[in-house]
Amino acid sequence: MTLISWGPSLELGIALIDEQHQRLIFLLNRLNDAMLAGHSKEVVHDVLEQLIDYTQYHFSTEEQLMKLNHYQAEDSHCLEHQRFIDDVQAFQRQCTAGQERISIDIMMFLRDWLARHILHTDKKLADTLQASGTFILPTMQQEAQQEIIPC
Ligand SMILES: [Fe+2]
Repeated sequence: MTLISWGPSLELGIALIDEQHQRLIFLLNRLNDAMLAGHSKEVVHDVLEQLIDYTQYHFSTEEQLMKLNHYQAEDSHCLEHQRFIDDVQAFQRQCTAGQERISIDIMMFLRDWLARHILHTDKKLADTLQASGTFILPTMQQEAQQEIIPC
């Protein structure tokens, strides 16, 4: 079941960022599928780990983009990223300790946070850069091919 669909309403017009957001949405939907299919804790944990790893990679892309272009709201934007990573890692630790399971509520939280962040915080960044006429894109290392765990 699709938790969140990629579409024009989420596009910001910066290909590097749009492609990464698309990948994040793909991984979020995979996590939702793994949760709904009732896969073992280990499988769900691996899918969650892939999502966290890719989220960190994506955030570092945006943070370099902000730094390279002296974006004024860099600090508050990075703080949103950091708080999200802290929350998700705390949740991951609870899962590992067996105190928590991925639930529909958790999936809703992840989906709502991502959609809100793209539509407000990332959109403000994209609009500012696009309004400036020219801006510098970070050169990211080749994305590591992630093993896709069958769900
Ligand atoms: Fe962001």
